[in-house]
Amino acid sequence: SLVHLLIAAAGSGRRMGAATNKLLLPLAGRPVLAWTLDAALACGAIRWIGVMGRPEDEAAIGAILAAAAPRRSLAPPVAWILGGDTRQESVRRGLEALPADAEAVLIHDGARCLAEPDLLERCATALKEAMAEGAGIIAATPVTDTIKQVDGRGLITGTPERSGLWAAQTPQGFGVAQLREAHGRAEREGWSVTDDAALYERLGLPVRVLEAPPSNIKLTTRFDLTIASAVLAARGA
Ligand code: CTP
Ligand code: MG
Repeated sequence: SLVHLLIAAAGSGRRMGAATNKLLLPLAGRPVLAWTLDAALACGAIRWIGVMGRPEDEAAIGAILAAAAPRRSLAPPVAWILGGDTRQESVRRGLEALPADAEAVLIHDGARCLAEPDLLERCATALKEAMAEGAGIIAATPVTDTIKQVDGRGLITGTPERSGLWAAQTPQGFGVAQLREAHGRAEREGWSVTDDAALYERLGLPVRVLEAPPSNIKLTTRFDLTIASAVLAARGA
């Protein structure tokens, strides 16, 4: 009962402020995306990996895929997929590129390069269980800061109860047919969302959270690169 994995890597990394896509920046001596891919290749629950990238990054990402793929025997095959202008569009294209027999898919941000094989494995297992009840799953972490609702003038308008708040992460897992349908509906109705779980929520479908370790951060700003290199150093990588 293996799952397929799509890695979203077709962003530009604008908030990182670098000249290239942040996923190509060096981290502990290797491109960020190489670390993400390593974890995926080391996870025994994954049967196939697709990586969505921008056309201008095809050569650089291709080199990362070529360097990573032969590292293990019995590793899943890795395919290059042309991404889109938004993350949502990149995932939609990834879904189109899945092998015909794909039933369960995990979507993962290329920028979450500290996700460990164990987290991917737990997500794959939870996905299989969730699919039996038509549900999806996401990795998430309980928020530790108190979150404030703030209006356009910088004034606080509310404080949601912290105990029920989780920060959504990836991997996010879904049944392939159901997620394709959700993306099709989103396209027809012009919904734009920042994660796939939000499509399920709009459709009233259940999505279960699975607690991820605090290290499962998304590299967004320069500061995150500093944290990531410290985490990798602590792991002895
Ligand atoms: N992503 C994608 N296709 C897009 C935009 C984003 O596949 N058109 C991917 C990114 O490569 C990243 C993940 O989605 O791995 C999460 O997005 P984010 O952190 O926002 O990355 P970027 O969009 O690259 O960064 P920024 O928003 O700062 O430009
Ligand atoms: Mg973005």
